[in-house]
Amino acid sequence: MSKQILILPGDGIGPEIMAEAVKVLNLANDKYTLGVELSFDDLGGAAIDRYGVPLADATLARAKAADAILLGAVGGPKWDAIDPAIRPERGLLKIRSQLGLFGNLRPAILYPQLADASSLKREIVAGLDILIVRELTGGIYFGSPRESKVLENGERMAYDTLPYSESEIRRIARVGFDMARVRGKKLCSVDKANVLASSQLWRAVVIEVAKDYPDVELSHMYVDNAAMQLVRAPKQFDVMVTDNMFGDILSDEASMLTGSIGMLPSASLDANNKGMYEPCHGSAPDIAGQGIANPLATILSVSMMLRYSFNEAAAADAIELAVSNVLDQGLRTGDIHSAGTTKVGTTAMGDAVVEALRSL
Ligand code: IPM
Ligand code: MG
Repeated sequence: MSKQILILPGDGIGPEIMAEAVKVLNLANDKYTLGVELSFDDLGGAAIDRYGVPLADATLARAKAADAILLGAVGGPKWDAIDPAIRPERGLLKIRSQLGLFGNLRPAILYPQLADASSLKREIVAGLDILIVRELTGGIYFGSPRESKVLENGERMAYDTLPYSESEIRRIARVGFDMARVRGKKLCSVDKANVLASSQLWRAVVIEVAKDYPDVELSHMYVDNAAMQLVRAPKQFDVMVTDNMFGDILSDEASMLTGSIGMLPSASLDANNKGMYEPCHGSAPDIAGQGIANPLATILSVSMMLRYSFNEAAAADAIELAVSNVLDQGLRTGDIHSAGTTKVGTTAMGDAVVEALRSL
């Protein structure tokens, strides 16, 4: 039976990087007889322009029917002034939530070839391999009530709510422990339990879940300290598990340790490992349309898709090796360029990965 992949290029640099990822996916499909079939639709600003909403019902239905989804990026200044209820980002949040994609895996791996592209000293980041497990369908992103209003005295005020239920914490903690178990067997749970009630429950539930994983070493860290430790001594971490907002922030921070956010893929999985795969970076409107964006995070997201949703480890390994070989050749997009390497654009980078994959 063929596997249906829904491709949502999105906005900004989304269509440019997606074109390269699709080339790689098509070649992998031929070379490893994956039996995937691609279909395309719009999400975010592109969907607002086409359907009037950032996620059309028909698109959501197609996403539910698909075996996996590959997403570019959403958002941009064109839609900044729009009604907040239909901002491009709301389409992304809705698809995550409607598909139940609560487990967000964000690996931060330093390719040895890029050690000098990191803003930190080589010895601090060399060999870095962290996995951030971010809760993706709960917490302050989705909590109600949330409101913006004008008080009687005329002052504007707004608030959000940060709720977590025991079951939401337990299932994401399990993802963290399961991942740690097949990696370095260390899990750091990041919270703000010295201040927040939701974090106090988070910590208590993670400690309960730990009883099922005696082989994994559990530690806890407050999020402010974690942010500091990530730049002080990042290699102390193996797997980090944290809530939606802390994970959003820490994963951007971790990405820069690897040289560029343009290198980092992600997987968002439901309880049955059905997933949506996307680069961690955004739509980068400042460089959209210039053909200079780094397509590697999206290409590596294809690799994660083959690994996690389709169990095609050989094809996934091959794509990762092809990316590494292209870096060995010295090819770099602007975001990872350093002295002595060759600067290339989006298409040339994608073509080079295709050639490297073909010749494996
Ligand atoms: C991310 C992004 C999104 C998020 C935005 C675009 C809504 O920053 O995937 O990290 O905050 O989750
Ligand atoms: Mg983010």
